[in-house]
Amino acid sequence: MNKKKIIASIKNIRISFKDNLTGKNNVVIRDTGFDLYRGEILGLIGESGSGKSVISSLLNGLLPRGGEILSGKISILGHDVTNWKEKDWLKSKLRGRKIGRVFQNPMSALTPTIKIKYQLIEALLDFKIFKKEEECIEEVIRILDNMDIENPKELLNMYPHELSGGMIQRVVLTMIISLKPEAIILDEPTTALDPIVQSEILTLIKKLNKQYNISFIFITHDIGVISEIADRVAIMYAGRIIEYGDSHEVLFDPRHPYTWGLLCSLPSASIGKNDLVGIKGILNQELLKDDQDAFVFRNPYAMQIDTEKRPPFFKIKENHYAATWLLHPNAPKVKKPEFIRSINKLY
Ligand SMILES: Nc1ncnc2c1ncn2[C@@H]1O[C@H](COP(=O)(O)OP(=O)(O)O)[C@@H](O)[C@H]1O
Ligand SMILES: [Mg+2]
Repeated sequence: MNKKKIIASIKNIRISFKDNLTGKNNVVIRDTGFDLYRGEILGLIGESGSGKSVISSLLNGLLPRGGEILSGKISILGHDVTNWKEKDWLKSKLRGRKIGRVFQNPMSALTPTIKIKYQLIEALLDFKIFKKEEECIEEVIRILDNMDIENPKELLNMYPHELSGGMIQRVVLTMIISLKPEAIILDEPTTALDPIVQSEILTLIKKLNKQYNISFIFITHDIGVISEIADRVAIMYAGRIIEYGDSHEVLFDPRHPYTWGLLCSLPSASIGKNDLVGIKGILNQELLKDDQDAFVFRNPYAMQIDTEKRPPFFKIKENHYAATWLLHPNAPKVKKPEFIRSINKLY
């Protein structure tokens, strides 16, 4: 098997935020991480507040103010960036150039009063990719063409507010891709788009991934979207990745009861039934003790041991792991939800 190159790696990271009112430190990322391989699309899934944005912000050195890395290690393209200060990030070519990022509201990446043309050129000139404006424009038009934009020259003369959500996404992707990045983090890139535009953007991302061999981290709370796009997936709950592996493995043979819950909340799971199954309750960080399985309060399959000890990762296959005591050899055999059994049959 040929060994895949690791672009970035987050290991055993623990992060807290200080609560300004109470002065208490809330741990929001709990001793977790992932590797990002060259050329892959990694889907990072979890409900709102599970830590997807915070953990991925580490790859750009953009941990929100008040956040503190308590332990763990972050490396990017061979650099240990764990203790980097803002000045180290500014000096390096990693942020923005080698590791790009598209935010949930991509409009925020653009300046409203400046034509698209100048915004795209500026990035290229800033990073000294080209010296002349004409060269920049040629390059930008080449990339826009490749994104199936009919009239790139016309687009270049427009202002951000004249563009649709899907077009804004394409402009922001063009800006990032023109810098020849190794990886792009897409933080809920399609959440605000209507379904047709969303599916166009997913197709576009797959195409860019293949053409340029750029790695993508695709963050979403929608497990349905991920099945269309990701090579590998990591499922996050309460600041920890709890199941990960090849998409096909995780989505057709899921082993963690939280992953079961996510899949059972898909609209297709409710066909022929009266209501959605899904996961009951809400994530309550306050109640959680560090040595417990965070899912214990909402897990219909919870056992005594979940209240006492955090489960380690159990290996299911070479490319599939899950952290649930249900995989312990001595655990009782449980009956999976009906929808999950029907998915298993498609495996
Ligand atoms: N700037 C911040 N200050 C304090 N807490 C924060 C801040 N940013 C995120 N958090 C907390 O960290 C946790 C994870 O947040 P986030 O990564 O944004 O979740 P997600 O992207 O999965 O919705 C949440 O509990 C959130 O309240
Ligand atoms: Mg987020």
